[in-house]
Amino acid sequence: MSSKGNPWFDKWAKLAKEKGYPARSVFKLMEIQKKYKLIRPGFRVLDLGASPGSWSQYACEIVGPQGKVVGVDQQPVKFSSKLFVFLQKDVFALTPEDLRSLGIEEFDLILSDLAPKTTGIEITDHLRSTELALRALELSKVLLKKGGSLVVKIFDGPELLSVRREFEKFFKNVKIFKPTATRKGSRELFILAFNKL
Ligand SMILES: C[S@@+](CC[C@H](N)C(=O)[O-])C[C@H]1O[C@@H](n2cnc3c(N)ncnc32)[C@H](O)[C@@H]1O
Repeated sequence: MSSKGNPWFDKWAKLAKEKGYPARSVFKLMEIQKKYKLIRPGFRVLDLGASPGSWSQYACEIVGPQGKVVGVDQQPVKFSSKLFVFLQKDVFALTPEDLRSLGIEEFDLILSDLAPKTTGIEITDHLRSTELALRALELSKVLLKKGGSLVVKIFDGPELLSVRREFEKFFKNVKIFKPTATRKGSRELFILAFNKL
């Protein structure tokens, strides 16, 4: 469905603009944060799929001056802050050295709002988002500290259960979360993986 003229989209997009965020997706992260308090002052946060920048902007507000947020996306961001570093890169080409060159070995929290360009064909979009979710998991194996958490967007579909099981191999506790700020009928979900083993 096109977002133009969609009252749901218009409501959240308008609210994001009023609050000074570049995208309405910020409300989903706010809901996750309200419930689970995953972002904390002083944290080093990696934000995968960061463009246009609303998750990174929100994370910077919480981590504060002792923290750091690193965003990665193929597309540029519309946000800047002295707490924020942006790498314009494909996540499949991202290496630990890219982060080391910024002086960061490990993150306290990894967020992934990575999403493929949707085709409208449910299974195709699901499988493409599954690849991105598994890439976020792969990166967390080397870039997330022990005990750290991972938040990953995925479009619901037949692979969800096996993806969840894959996450469960590396985290103590894994939940599936559907924010209310998600469009009605949307297949978007978030895998919340707590406490890396
Ligand atoms: C829903 S948007 C993220 C919105 C962002 N969280 C915000 O609040 O502003 C999904 C992003 O994933 C990015 N993306 C998709 N595949 C990618 C890849 N392979 N490497 C890097 N970024 C990718 C897209 O460019 C897009 O900006």
